[in-house]
Amino acid sequence: MNLTNMKKTIFIAASLLLASSSTFAAKMAMPADAPASYEAECASCHMAYPPALLSEQSWKNVMSSLSKHFGTDASVDAKTQAEITSWLIKNAATRQKYSETAPENRITKTSWFIRKHDEVRVDVWKRASIKSPANCGACHIDAAKGIFSESNIKIPAK
Ligand code: HEC
Ligand code: HEC
Repeated sequence: MNLTNMKKTIFIAASLLLASSSTFAAKMAMPADAPASYEAECASCHMAYPPALLSEQSWKNVMSSLSKHFGTDASVDAKTQAEITSWLIKNAATRQKYSETAPENRITKTSWFIRKHDEVRVDVWKRASIKSPANCGACHIDAAKGIFSESNIKIPAK
C-alpha cells in the first residue's frame, strides 16, 4: 500500500469510528415532540429521561407500575398514562444492543449502562452532588437534551 492509500484507509477508518459513536449519542436525543405531560409528570423527582434510554417493554413495565415506583407513588390519570406511554414506546431504544429489558426497570441496571460506566469508581457514585447513578445530569451536563458524549461530561469533585 502506498502512502496516499494508507492515509485514505486511516481516514475512512477514523470516519467510521466517529460515525458509529455519534450514532449511539444521537439515538439518545430527546425528541422535540415530547407531550407537556411528560415534563409535568416525569421530571419533578428526577430528570425527564430521554425515551431512547429504555426498550419498549421496559417503558411498558415502568408505566404500568407507577403506583409503586421506586419506593414512591408516581401515578397519573388514565388519559395521561396512555399519552406518555405511547410517546415513550414510539421513541424507545431500537438497536438490539440497547434494547434489552432492563432489570428492575432501571436504565442504570442495563448491561450497556454498566459497561459504559465501568471506569466510574464506587465512591464517586456516592458523592453528595451525585448520590445515585440515576442522576445522569450530575455528570452529563447536557443529559436533559439526551447528549451523553464524552466531551459533555464533568464529574463533580464532591
Ligand atoms: C414522586 C417522584 C417521582 C415521579 C413523579 C417520577 N419518578 Fe421516576 N423515579 C423516582 C425515584 C425516587 C427513582 C429512583 C431514583 C434513584 O434510584 O436514584 C425513579 C427512577 C426512575 C427510573 C429508573 C432510573 C434508573 O435507575 O435507571 C425511570 C426510568 C423513571 N423513574 C421513570 C419515570 C417516569 C416515566 C415518570 C413519569 C410517569 C416518573 N419516573 C415519575 C421518583 C419519581
Ligand atoms: C458519576 C458521573 C456519571 C453519572 C451520574 C452518569 N454517567 Fe454516564 N458516563 C460517565 C462517564 C465517566 C462515562 C464514560 C465516558 C467515556 O469515557 O466514554 C459515561 C458514559 C455514558 C454513555 C456513553 C457515551 C458514549 O459516547 O459512549 C452514556 C450513553 C451514558 N453515560 C448515559 C448515562 C445515563 C443515561 C445516566 C443516568 C441514568 C448516566 N450516564 C449517569 C459518568 C456518569
